[in-house]
Amino acid sequence: MSDMIEVNKLRREFGTLKAVDGISFKVKEGEIFGLLGPNGAGKTTTIKMLTTILPPTSGNAKVAGFDIKKDQNSVRRSIGIIFQDPSLDEELTGRENLEFHAILYKMGDEQRTEKINSVLKLVELEDKADVLVKNYSGGMKRRLEIGRGLLHEPKVLFLDEPTIGLDPQTRRHMWNYIQKLNAMHNVTLILTTHYIEEADFLCNRVAFVDHGKIVALGTPTELKNTLGGDVVSVKTENSDLLEKGLSGKGWIHHMKKHDGFIDLSVKEGEKKIPEVVMIAQNVNAEIESISLHKPSLEDVFLHYTGKTIREEEGSWKDTMRSRIVRRNR
Ligand SMILES: Nc1ncnc2c1ncn2[C@@H]1O[C@H](COP(=O)(O)OP(=O)(O)O)[C@@H](O)[C@H]1O
Ligand SMILES: [Mg+2]
Repeated sequence: MSDMIEVNKLRREFGTLKAVDGISFKVKEGEIFGLLGPNGAGKTTTIKMLTTILPPTSGNAKVAGFDIKKDQNSVRRSIGIIFQDPSLDEELTGRENLEFHAILYKMGDEQRTEKINSVLKLVELEDKADVLVKNYSGGMKRRLEIGRGLLHEPKVLFLDEPTIGLDPQTRRHMWNYIQKLNAMHNVTLILTTHYIEEADFLCNRVAFVDHGKIVALGTPTELKNTLGGDVVSVKTENSDLLEKGLSGKGWIHHMKKHDGFIDLSVKEGEKKIPEVVMIAQNVNAEIESISLHKPSLEDVFLHYTGKTIREEEGSWKDTMRSRIVRRNR
């Protein structure tokens, strides 16, 4: 398998802000690759540089074999883009939106009609093709945008937060849909998300992005394995005391304190719980609760960045923001 995307020390500054701070990675042909990180991490800026919308401050990248600085037109012909903020014309029908895009891409009349019909079928909107987009549900709009992004048969499809603002059920539907697209057409997909679950379920490989840097990269399983075993999570009012008591224990692979919890990565966690309880008693740290789970991507993210991605807060803000955008159109 060849590399479809090659990113080399890509950097973008806005004044003194390092929005993207020297990132490098490769994406293979046919892969679903995810950039996962909180709001402001630099995901959209990265996508904008790879799609030639924004010039890098330094560094370089190749997309489908073309240099993003020197071969911009070839890059653009090879890619499809679906952006975070919806960019459909609500006063046109689904089919008209696609026609408009096809004309922009200078497709001939005959080829145009044929392609539009096949794309409408692909995104399962044949029945709704002649309905005004303002009467579409959120999921239908997102599907139409994907269809539009595929119209000129791109080798690489960029999706910036493809499921933002969708309800959980529609979101899952979209994931299945994106996987199907990838399997059937071997399109290379690069998507950004701040939903941990989405990265875990959907992506072959994931890069964690924080403050413009990639802090970890691998398959979801590889990333989870880096923590080495189970996560024992202890809630206590005296986390400083307990941390001192636990420090230096050889069987603890990693220890992380956050929001009144201490998370320990240990092998065979269930066997270590009694010892943790004993240590807590010895240092007079009162345990409020103790739980054990297999590491999730969230645990791994916490390990590498020292913070959690707060899904609720993010999705709430994004929903409000997209509502405001829609109202102002
Ligand atoms: N055009 C711009 N001018 C100034 N700052 C920007 C611009 N675009 C993005 N930023 C800043 O760069 C950082 C990264 O933004 P962005 O790439 O949109 O993050 P993400 O998509 O991960 O939420 C943020 O701090 C954001 O405010
Ligand atoms: Mg973004």
